[in-house]
Amino acid sequence: MRYGIIGLGAIAPFFLEAVERCPDSTLAGVCDLDSAKTEPLAKQGTPAFTDYRDLLAAGVCDAVIITLPNHAHAEAAIAALEAGVAVCCEKPLAVGSAEANRMAAAAERTGMTLFTAFHRRYNRHLTDLREALPEDRSQISQVTIRYHENILEHIGGDRWYLDAERCGGGCLIDNGPNALDMAHVLVGSLTLTGTRLSDIRSGIEYVAELDLVSADGVPVRVELDWALTTGETKDVVVQLVDGTVLRADMLEGFTAFKSSLRHEYDGILADFRSQVAAQRASCGTGIEIVGLVEEAYALGRKEAGHRRSKLPTLTRLVRLLFHTSESRGMTLSEWGTRCISKGEIHELVTTTDRPRTPGDRIDAVGFLGFVEFQEGTVIALGDEVKLADDRLIGTVAGFDECHFPNHYNIIIESDRLWTADSAGVEPLDEVRFAEL
Ligand SMILES: NC(=O)c1ccc[n+]([C@@H]2O[C@H](COP(=O)([O-])OP(=O)(O)OC[C@H]3O[C@@H](n4cnc5c(N)ncnc54)[C@H](O)[C@@H]3O)[C@@H](O)[C@H]2O)c1
Repeated sequence: MRYGIIGLGAIAPFFLEAVERCPDSTLAGVCDLDSAKTEPLAKQGTPAFTDYRDLLAAGVCDAVIITLPNHAHAEAAIAALEAGVAVCCEKPLAVGSAEANRMAAAAERTGMTLFTAFHRRYNRHLTDLREALPEDRSQISQVTIRYHENILEHIGGDRWYLDAERCGGGCLIDNGPNALDMAHVLVGSLTLTGTRLSDIRSGIEYVAELDLVSADGVPVRVELDWALTTGETKDVVVQLVDGTVLRADMLEGFTAFKSSLRHEYDGILADFRSQVAAQRASCGTGIEIVGLVEEAYALGRKEAGHRRSKLPTLTRLVRLLFHTSESRGMTLSEWGTRCISKGEIHELVTTTDRPRTPGDRIDAVGFLGFVEFQEGTVIALGDEVKLADDRLIGTVAGFDECHFPNHYNIIIESDRLWTADSAGVEPLDEVRFAEL
């Protein structure tokens, strides 16, 4: 099997190594928009491209592995299938059912395999757990799957994971597919019964809780959390009606970061090869899971529409500021939320920069002033900041701690650099913080 790999980011090395270990497999070409990423492989003689259409046209691959940001999976997969090349696509197969269906139709039309790389289904602790389950699924009273991590510890140089357009959402579309596929492996097809999306920051959920039920009536709960301080928990707990509790910790015995992926990605390639050999066009649970994730977003957003986690918080300007700077050199702290007591005073700093990752530098700033909080609250990324006349100043992008513990600089992402002058505010004017 001659493999091409499209997208040489954080996950690609696990595929590159798996191809090397897989019998009768060769790396026949690589592609990344960024030629610095293809260069080391090109130097070793691997044909390298910056446009996947050129890789496909070169006719050097029997299959491609798609390790692109989520929104780019569909077009690349369809182009590959139409070029007569089998596709092993990272999860999620696509960001929505419409795209996933177009991909499946292309596989059907061309007779080429379209496969979704759900790596957790090959984890040895999950396969052991599946073996240990009673054949009679009515003996299972509950399955709980947890996927808890700090997303910032998992992303590569690009920030597409935190961009709803390119990621398709937050933790639900990122970790939901693997968690749902694991549930599918254990108890079969699932129906969604409830979704709660919370800890919303800049429009994307950092926490999602899903309730589902299998065709045999087994209740399944999926808990996804992107907001852990550090570390990760990826496990499954199965409770049986007789009181027995079975647990599989996906990371047990894999102490180095992401080291379980080695055997899981070997599993992906072995399975992919057998699907290609059997000339199967289907993408397994890939499409079903895109549908479940989509349904969960629809349900979760509907619920969230009439559930608020806090009321708008009133603050008053106690000191105005009038200056701007193009090179202020503030630093985005690691915190996504800050608890603030009644009476605390903090500084409001607007920026046209787009800081996303802790440590990001914030240079272009406009100073609005210091506000006193009239009530205790929790300020979170994505909160809207509005003046008394309902004018939107921007949304909270995070915090800079250069004056802490005296006060935080609350960084407000805006389309212009606001000052007390340009906002036309006076001392004691109101500023409100409200969740979106
Ligand atoms: N990182 C992980 O731990 C992990 C785990 C499981 C699955 N995945 C999935 O793998 C996929 C890739 O994730 P990642 O973390 O490696 O992302 P990444 O941002 O680290 O890598 C993506 C790469 O694709 C390149 N790229 C973007 N658009 C391109 C285009 N049009 N043509 C060619 N190259 C292009 C980028 O330059 C980048 O090198 C995602 O679907 C993700 O959900 C990632």
